[in-house]
Amino acid sequence: MHSEGSILLIKHAAEIVTSTGTIARKGTDMNRLERITDGALLVKNGMIEWVGATADLPEIFHDNITIIDATGCSVIPGFVDSHTHFVFGGYRPEEFFWRLSGTPYLEILERGGGILNTVKATQSMGYEAMVETASRRLDEMLAMGVTTVEGKSGYGLDFDTELMQLQAMGKLNADHAVEVVPTFMGAHAVPPEYRGREDDYVTFIVEKLLPAVIEQSIAEFCDVFCEKGVFSVHQTRKILQAAGDLGLKIKIHADEIVSFGGAELAAELGAVSADHLLQASDKGIADMAARGVVATVLPMTAFCLREQYARARWIIDNGGALALATDYNPGSCFSHSIPMLIALAAIQLALSPAEILTALTLNGAAAVGRADRIGTLEPGKQADIVMLKYPSYLFLSYHVGMDIVDRVIKKGQVVAD
Ligand code: NIG
Ligand code: FE
Repeated sequence: MHSEGSILLIKHAAEIVTSTGTIARKGTDMNRLERITDGALLVKNGMIEWVGATADLPEIFHDNITIIDATGCSVIPGFVDSHTHFVFGGYRPEEFFWRLSGTPYLEILERGGGILNTVKATQSMGYEAMVETASRRLDEMLAMGVTTVEGKSGYGLDFDTELMQLQAMGKLNADHAVEVVPTFMGAHAVPPEYRGREDDYVTFIVEKLLPAVIEQSIAEFCDVFCEKGVFSVHQTRKILQAAGDLGLKIKIHADEIVSFGGAELAAELGAVSADHLLQASDKGIADMAARGVVATVLPMTAFCLREQYARARWIIDNGGALALATDYNPGSCFSHSIPMLIALAAIQLALSPAEILTALTLNGAAAVGRADRIGTLEPGKQADIVMLKYPSYLFLSYHVGMDIVDRVIKKGQVVAD
């Protein structure tokens, strides 16, 4: 094979393991992986060119090849954390302990705490600090093998700060190795100045914020916290229909605390994903599977809130496409630990290692509208790759709660080791 441009060659991986395809895998198909023993992978100009057994590697004529000997390591696609709120100011440690001593999450929000505390801190932090703190968080995520992360606004809740959060994500996407997918979530909570006139805030989002977001091209998705006491199904539909009409893709924080019709609405609107789903109804889950809406389950949030877990097993067994994500945020889940997420998925959600890998790679990519470009290790896809310290990907679940990432490669470049 004669090649120009930069070349990266990984050889002798104990195994290369990946889902395949360019759309989310559903149901039993989530278990279907390709596993290549003594594998090799060739990257040219940031794209995967060839994957197979080391013994079958084509001869390469090139004077500038970076070669990685992956003996004893397994190789998987980079993780996609498809649901986070990683751009924020301040922290809320005291709230964590209030919740542990029995105060419900929504009660803290109703009292003007919770999300609204983070909103105050975010509104006053300034752009530079916002970018800088979020950039450090991306460093930590990258070290755990996350090569693409979705991030939401929703800690501004005013015109300038909502846009600033999205602009910060655009800057990070340009400057940081981790690819950032920006989601506009002005409907994360009702700001205090709109208390008692919630519909006016919905109108403000639809008439003022959304058009500005579109004009600046700073978001790909729109998300709403559809929950009892936060945004009703009717208000959520209004915001998301407007967002969809303007060309944004749709996500919903659905049925987290109360069974509320969020999953059904996600199917009705053709959302890309509905997330949380702890209380989603059988019908809602079935509607989502039928419509191809990715079910994004966030077990670390359920763990931290001591709520029951979403029915991940049931979703897959009923033909759904499941993604797993951290929900990293300063309130309900102050953790972006991929090892912990995997441990909960394996032990509490009873997912197989193959289902977990698919949920964190291909299906995560589908949940951020990128399954055609990332999420698997196949020719034609972007070379976002994680090398693990152990010879089988099974160690992700088996080495409970441990970070076993050895090296991270983004677009063919080693970015963490
Ligand atoms: O996904 N549910 C709403 N939003 C976040 C929590 C945000 C916060 O508490 O700061 C979530 O859990
Ligand atoms: Fe969330």
